[in-house]
Amino acid sequence: MESNLKSLKIEAENEIKKAEDLDEIYRKYLGKKGKITQILSSLKDLPEQERREKGKEINILKNFIEEEIKKRKSSFVKATEDKEEWIDITHPGKKIETGHLNPLTLVKREAEEIFQSMGFYIAEGPDIENEWYNFDALNIPKDHPARDQWDTFWLKTKDKLLLRAHTSPVQIHYMESHKPPIRIIAPGNAFRHEATDASHEFQFMQIEGLMIDKSVSVPNFKAIIEEFFRRFFDKKVEIRLRPDFFPFTEPSFDISMSCIVCGGKGCPACKNSGWIEMAGAGMVHPNVLKAGKIDPKLWQGWAFGFGLERLAMMKYKINDIRLFREGDLRFLKQF
Ligand code: DAH
Repeated sequence: MESNLKSLKIEAENEIKKAEDLDEIYRKYLGKKGKITQILSSLKDLPEQERREKGKEINILKNFIEEEIKKRKSSFVKATEDKEEWIDITHPGKKIETGHLNPLTLVKREAEEIFQSMGFYIAEGPDIENEWYNFDALNIPKDHPARDQWDTFWLKTKDKLLLRAHTSPVQIHYMESHKPPIRIIAPGNAFRHEATDASHEFQFMQIEGLMIDKSVSVPNFKAIIEEFFRRFFDKKVEIRLRPDFFPFTEPSFDISMSCIVCGGKGCPACKNSGWIEMAGAGMVHPNVLKAGKIDPKLWQGWAFGFGLERLAMMKYKINDIRLFREGDLRFLKQF
């Protein structure tokens, strides 16, 4: 019994030193079915004298084991205190990075909201068109020199399909399927086969606008565009209309706005003119109304086409159009 207790003591001492789970050790020796508990309960059959002596020895061992476990536990606490390991429950968690919208989408949505609040409906058309919608219906006949202006991407199909060179074809789609009065904007992609530089891309976005009613006029147009600019740029912006040529409008004009970078005084952004060209526009040509099955004797209208990138570049003072589609996070994360 004595040597038995000695080896039990050594065994317990060693195990306590190495143990990772001290509760498990406690249970092994001192729990209900623990080794020490079992020996203690086996004493009840011994004669009283012997039971007392043995009982004493076993109780000493029991206290020893309890004490060792306590010591080891407090050494754990001390080690963690020494390392100053503590949890700051007020520390903010790790931020999960989520993606966000491209500035072009933001600008498109903002423009849509402004026009919608002025009663315009948002229309859409396909990126792939045929010659009729991209050219003929817009009063650009086969041999008209204006076709050269749109260096087009043709698809290798028998029926001569192309990537639309502007959003103006949406005017025709909409007229075909809706009766006037019409008030729409049509934001979307356009494609042109041209070399890229800081202000040209082969894929870009436009916002087309079309208003048809019994007596719409250029002053209506000017008021709506001025209001759009005022809300979009959040300040009063002067606009200027100058004569221009587009086959689908008559008369046609280009729209410039006072340069928001320098306030119209002249700077590199506006090539020192104080004005920035923003869009083409005009009164819808009677042939275009006819192509859209609308009687030009009863109805008239105006139309415009903005470059969406140009709007975004002016709003955020971005000097290179290529940045929008390059996918460079250093640029994109700024919006
Ligand atoms: N479609 C023209 C272009 O891409 C822009 C344009 C000019 C649209 C005059 C119009 C307009 O609706 O009336 O250059």
